[in-house]
Amino acid sequence: MKDLFSAKLQAKIDRLKKNKKPLTLGQVHFSSPLLLAPMSSICNAPFRLLMEELGAGGTVSELISCHGIVRKNEKTMKMLYIDPKETNVGLQIFGEDENIMAEAASVAQGFAPKFVDINMGCPVRKVVSKGGGSALLKEPKKLSSFFSTIRKNLTVPLSIKIRTGWDEDNINAQEVINIASSEGIEFVAIHGRTRTQAYKGHANWNYLESISSNSPLPIIGNGDLHHGKKIQERLSHTNCDALMIGRAALRNPFIFLEGLPDQSIEKDQVFFTAEDIYEVAKRLYGHLEAYVDREKVLLVQMRKHLIWLAAGFTNVSHFRDELFRATNIEDVLKISEDFFLSQGKAQKHIKDSENFMRGGHG
Ligand SMILES: Cc1cc2nc3c(=O)[nH]c(=O)nc-3n(C[C@H](O)[C@H](O)[C@H](O)COP(=O)(O)O)c2cc1C
Repeated sequence: MKDLFSAKLQAKIDRLKKNKKPLTLGQVHFSSPLLLAPMSSICNAPFRLLMEELGAGGTVSELISCHGIVRKNEKTMKMLYIDPKETNVGLQIFGEDENIMAEAASVAQGFAPKFVDINMGCPVRKVVSKGGGSALLKEPKKLSSFFSTIRKNLTVPLSIKIRTGWDEDNINAQEVINIASSEGIEFVAIHGRTRTQAYKGHANWNYLESISSNSPLPIIGNGDLHHGKKIQERLSHTNCDALMIGRAALRNPFIFLEGLPDQSIEKDQVFFTAEDIYEVAKRLYGHLEAYVDREKVLLVQMRKHLIWLAAGFTNVSHFRDELFRATNIEDVLKISEDFFLSQGKAQKHIKDSENFMRGGHG
């Protein structure tokens, strides 16, 4: 199941990739303005590589604990791994203590990312109760020292990913960006929600557009970019320098190609067929198999990706039940082949993305 893409699919991908336009944020070069957002337990090296192969202009790792890094925890160290074929990847670290963060950033740099990113958006209680993630937004006075301490030992650029603020009454992204700018941060990705909002409501694009229009730093806008059409529309008139896409890429791995300017695509349509998506599943399996050392982990990873990839086709609930009954990877692969190939040239329609996965670390 680990074949390369067929010549036909590769040609289709290459045709769409012609619309990619490189851009530079600070000193970091990306191959397109559509970037993969960091997602914990998802954005490991195999998945990031796949997304780059399918047009993502750059990627960011899942959040990685600074404490786990300095303690050289085995599982944490594995998260720092970058595949030699990845070209535009940032490693994201999280934590509250500037000295430990500085040490962790320096270790992360040793894995040769294009940049190191600080997670300042995670809303999860376990992280914010210790002062990390979005809790960092609550005390902007501490940020100058926080950034400069982490920055000191780095030769690669340092970026941050934030939310708009802690809550509706404390929207302070502008203030955080100004401090970041004076401390040599390279660019800022903003998820357009507050911490207390978690994943409720909608990303506040009016706010993102207004702060991007006179920001001292390049801004990457993020939140609710669910369809190729929506991304194209946003890209055509945004003040943001780049856009970041998270959840939508799980259900439509071609979104970085479909969202490029000038692709002809209808609202909520996925341009590629079930057969194409099956090829993507096979490729992901190949990448994961080389990276994961236990079959159980491979099984769990493949199962979740296959369920996301199947969204929008018919008979998905039956497929999901079958996947959960399967106890070994061979059965999972056979069930998937039957499912995707039985859909043939069908194109999927994803209508309910806004309610998809309302939880995460940023
Ligand atoms: C499952 C999941 C895990 C996430 N993990 C992270 C993370 O590790 N670091 C981070 O900065 N943001 C994380 N996020 C937030 C995303 O990067 C992104 O900001 C958010 O999902 C909004 O973008 P979207 O609407 O395109 O998904 C996560 C989101 C989800 C759904």
